[in-house]
Amino acid sequence: MYNETVMDHFQNPRNVGEITDASGVGEIGNVVCGDILRVYIKVKGEILDDVKYMTFGCGAAVASGSMMTTLAKGKTIEEAKELTNKDVAQALGGLPPQKLHCSNLAADALHKAIEDWQQKPERRSELSEIINKG
Ligand code: FES
Repeated sequence: MYNETVMDHFQNPRNVGEITDASGVGEIGNVVCGDILRVYIKVKGEILDDVKYMTFGCGAAVASGSMMTTLAKGKTIEEAKELTNKDVAQALGGLPPQKLHCSNLAADALHKAIEDWQQKPERRSELSEIINKG
């Protein structure tokens, strides 16, 4: 049912786990099946220095989370915001149509983690300093 890339990321998922001192955390639940994917990000400057994830989901969700972390790590915040669920599914070489909804968790959870980071008080004061200087 799954291609080689999906099987590889399912059997050897990259960047699984928690970042204890994460800059932001985002979680998305899948309305179709009730599964959950949580993303942790560590931001340094404007770069996603580290991205980890955990999921209570199927093989396609595990593979999508894994692929999303490899795509997002090292990207700027702006680049990471542009990453779509479709990009993740494409990087996996496609998913069976009945499993496409599973790949909708990864990039959405990443975007939520970025939003979480942007809403942090220290981030807000950092941003207003930049705005005030400009
Ligand atoms: Fe729930 Fe795939 S069946 S994420």
